[in-house]
Amino acid sequence: MELLDKLVIPVSEPHLNLLRILLILAMVLFLSYSSLLYGTTILSVYYNRMFKKSNDSKFNLLSKDLIETLTQAPTIWFGMGIAPLIGVILLYTQLLHGTTNSVLAYMVVSLVFFCIGTATIYIYKKSLILSGVLNKVKSNDSKLIEYEEENNNDNGALALWSFVFLTLSNLFFIASLNLATDSRLWDSGVFPILFSSAAQFKFLFFVVFGIVFTGITFLYVNFSFEGGKHFDDSNYVSFVKDRISKIALSASYALPFLLAMTIISTPINALNGNLFIYAALTCFFIVISAQLLYSYIKESKNSNISLGFWFLFLAFTFYITKEQSAFATTSQNNLMRLASIHEKLELESSSKEVKPVEINPQEIFNAKCIACHKFDIKQTTAPAYNDVAVKYIGNEGDMVKFILNPVPKNAKDFPSGMPNQGLKPAEAKAMATWIIAQVKKNKGL
Ligand code: HEC
Repeated sequence: MELLDKLVIPVSEPHLNLLRILLILAMVLFLSYSSLLYGTTILSVYYNRMFKKSNDSKFNLLSKDLIETLTQAPTIWFGMGIAPLIGVILLYTQLLHGTTNSVLAYMVVSLVFFCIGTATIYIYKKSLILSGVLNKVKSNDSKLIEYEEENNNDNGALALWSFVFLTLSNLFFIASLNLATDSRLWDSGVFPILFSSAAQFKFLFFVVFGIVFTGITFLYVNFSFEGGKHFDDSNYVSFVKDRISKIALSASYALPFLLAMTIISTPINALNGNLFIYAALTCFFIVISAQLLYSYIKESKNSNISLGFWFLFLAFTFYITKEQSAFATTSQNNLMRLASIHEKLELESSSKEVKPVEINPQEIFNAKCIACHKFDIKQTTAPAYNDVAVKYIGNEGDMVKFILNPVPKNAKDFPSGMPNQGLKPAEAKAMATWIIAQVKKNKGL
């Protein structure tokens, strides 16, 4: 990870605080997307299995619709997945600079699994569509039946693989977040890092949240957002509403408990007052959104589901802020150290600025004047300083003006005058002082 470390630039304390806010934003983007992706995969795999057991095509359709809802725009995969994840990695690189742990390595591993996992989902989606088509074709053709079976097997395998890759990606990512917060784990091996109780509770919270969030998002997108989508089969609609809302609701009952476990397993040196406030807000909005989901099931009011979606999103934002406030507490020392490095550098560079640049008249003379001028002998190129500089004694300012902007003085002897030598004002001043002093010495004045 040395490569990443080279990207670090020392920044001041207000900048570090800004980075932490950016981190929360990137994290909200990435985690809400990846929890949806994961929840969708879990539910889709689950309904795919149900379909195989019961051979009820509604399960197959639901399995496909779930994946389709989430993969409508392929660019989301980059915009809300890969890009914010890379952002998170870069921000952690900056915030953890100078510490010795494998947080970044775990994050990069997670990124790799994330890419493979999402790619597999898109392939899975394609084969689900195919199985939907094959399912519609009612035929006794033995070849077709064989093909359908084969495709269903492929389906199952792909679903399982995307589930495995995303599980690995999420496990590594959440373990790395936990690792960043808990410095006691920094010297541990992979196993304790991935399977410490804190990492596991956070992972479980993430999984269950993913299922609830997927359920609510699915209902929101299909039945509430912009009037909902059109489904031909009302039988299927009530089947979906019933299945999804119930699974989301029962999963949401587990969330407050898991949330409490994530707090209990937080290391003591990471606890702070704000953390409890954020946790309380998370719990509050989870309960409200579960309540809305419940009333949606009872009254089937679509507006409830959109409210439920936004409250759940809010709950997750507070949850992430809670996690980040724990990280801020444990990383405070490191941040103060980073800020002081920046301050030191700042001081060094400002003291450099104040120091005037050394001007050496002799050097300038040798470099720029000697080609034409001598002190004692008048040349064809230019007058001798001893002759022309006397008039400037006590009148140095005028010589400075001449050097900066040579105007013709003695057009008879030197018709082409003196070309401008392009000195800076400070250099011209130093030259004038030096020439006059030299001339005075030469003439014994
Ligand atoms: C290309 C030749 C050339 C170079 C190089 C040159 N000068 Fe001159 N300098 C002249 C000539 C020609 C004059 C006379 C101009 C006139 O009398 O109009 C002159 C005149 C002067 C005078 C006297 C002006 C007066 O009031 O009589 C000073 C002072 C002077 N130069 C300073 C410098 C300094 C300092 C440099 C180097 C940074 C320099 N010159 C480089 C050609 C040169």
